[in-house]
Amino acid sequence: MEKLEDIYEDGSIGAPSCSLFAEKLEPCQLVIFGATGDLTARKLIPALFALFVDENLPKPCSIIGCGRTVLDNDGFRQLLVKNSPVDLAGHPRWREFVSLLHYRAIQYDALHTYEELAVFLKELDKRVGTDGNTIFDLAVPPDLYPLISAKLVEVGLSLENEEGRGWSRIIIEKPFGRDLASAKILDAALHRGFSEQQIFRIDHYLAKETVQNTMIFRFANSIFEPLWNRDHIEYVGIVSAEELGVGSRAGYYDQAGVLRDMFQNHMLQLLAIIGMEPPAGFISELIRDEKTKLLRCLRPFAAPGQEDALILGQYGAGKIQGRDVPGYRRENGVRGNSLTPTFALLRVHLDNWRWQGVPFYLISGKRMARKDTRLVIQFKEVPHSMFREVIGDKVGANRLNFGIFPEEEINLSFQAKVPGPRICLRTTKLGFKYYDDSAGPVLRAYEKVLLDCMRGEQMFFWRQDGVELAWEFLEPVLESCEMCGEREERLKFYEAGSWGPEEVRGLMNILMA
Ligand code: BG6
Repeated sequence: MEKLEDIYEDGSIGAPSCSLFAEKLEPCQLVIFGATGDLTARKLIPALFALFVDENLPKPCSIIGCGRTVLDNDGFRQLLVKNSPVDLAGHPRWREFVSLLHYRAIQYDALHTYEELAVFLKELDKRVGTDGNTIFDLAVPPDLYPLISAKLVEVGLSLENEEGRGWSRIIIEKPFGRDLASAKILDAALHRGFSEQQIFRIDHYLAKETVQNTMIFRFANSIFEPLWNRDHIEYVGIVSAEELGVGSRAGYYDQAGVLRDMFQNHMLQLLAIIGMEPPAGFISELIRDEKTKLLRCLRPFAAPGQEDALILGQYGAGKIQGRDVPGYRRENGVRGNSLTPTFALLRVHLDNWRWQGVPFYLISGKRMARKDTRLVIQFKEVPHSMFREVIGDKVGANRLNFGIFPEEEINLSFQAKVPGPRICLRTTKLGFKYYDDSAGPVLRAYEKVLLDCMRGEQMFFWRQDGVELAWEFLEPVLESCEMCGEREERLKFYEAGSWGPEEVRGLMNILMA
């Protein structure tokens, strides 16, 4: 029999077994297009700075901002300090980090500016010693992706291991198209010069610790997987509820709506992680293969019996944390008669042996009672309750809750006896808080995404076949939401600060309990 000392290398119970980041990162240049924009100042630079402070950036490394605005290096650095939500300049190591930052103005449609950029990158690479390795991060509006990618290809910046170049990678953010056709066009544009291994499609939900932990929970423990099927599970809830409204993004959001904004990407990724079969190894392609197989099992929305599978809502005026907030149609930049849904509940079925008959409820909405992201696995009730005659009630079924926000935690609810002479049951919980007893460095989503790209690790990025399957499934859903003659009647209004339209409250109350 194994001894504890054999199980845990250092002899202590619960010692973590880590493997990641033992390898040395290869030096590289990171070129950010859209460098004067919001995403760069709010997310990318703070993430890169945090990596730098924790000694997690490759050495050497250069960061080159590119944007339409004409600026010099100092102007760029000052702009970042001004627009960042964190106090960059107040940090003792900011001055050191600043020496990695460069800026080049670029006109996105002018080839000669890319040629100049290529010359600049080559010189900088030689000077700094980044071995010709380059990442291009497109922090620009999605309609610029094909243009920028085409120009990079034209000037040879997508080439790998040729003419003094090392590797070359490109990062893009969702939305990956507006529908299947545009997703394919975008993909074809990227593939004109970049291979699939060079393309990193971000989904920040995949970079969340608890989302990744769901996979560890399923496949590194032997006791749950035998229960993970239609024999034991009644239904699954995947919920991303937000308190925030549309904010300053009305221009984008009013065109996209909740289905394109949250379902085509985050919600379907969560579904794939919960539902996929055990991959043969912790290897990017094997995991992405399993997710793809799962997305292929999605029952088409138009199939019989799916008529009531979609509930759409839009928030009206209400109160958030005691403060009055306007309805969606009164938000800045939103059309006064907008029919864009800000809430959706979509019941989906997976047509395979494991999941036949188990509904998955995908739910996401803005301006809801509180921000709460969770995965709920509702197990079946006991087949026969020997307590029914004594307690005169149903015995509550077990439930597994993966909290993603506000708490990263896992809870398993079960029945226990209330102490005392009478037989009385109560629902109680076994709980695990993700960060309890944790000593490891915690990476926020963008830190993880950037680091994985530097490592060439694609496990937590979308692959194109998945993108297309997600659109294929969602297109009829979108059609029913956008083309149907009864669009107005189908949209249910809900008060800001509530758990969504009346029709979903029952389920929401159970899921959010
Ligand atoms: C983004 C959506 O992808 O995810 C936003 O575009 C949404 O509308 C956000 O607010 C939610 O992310 P998180 O991490 O706060 O749950």
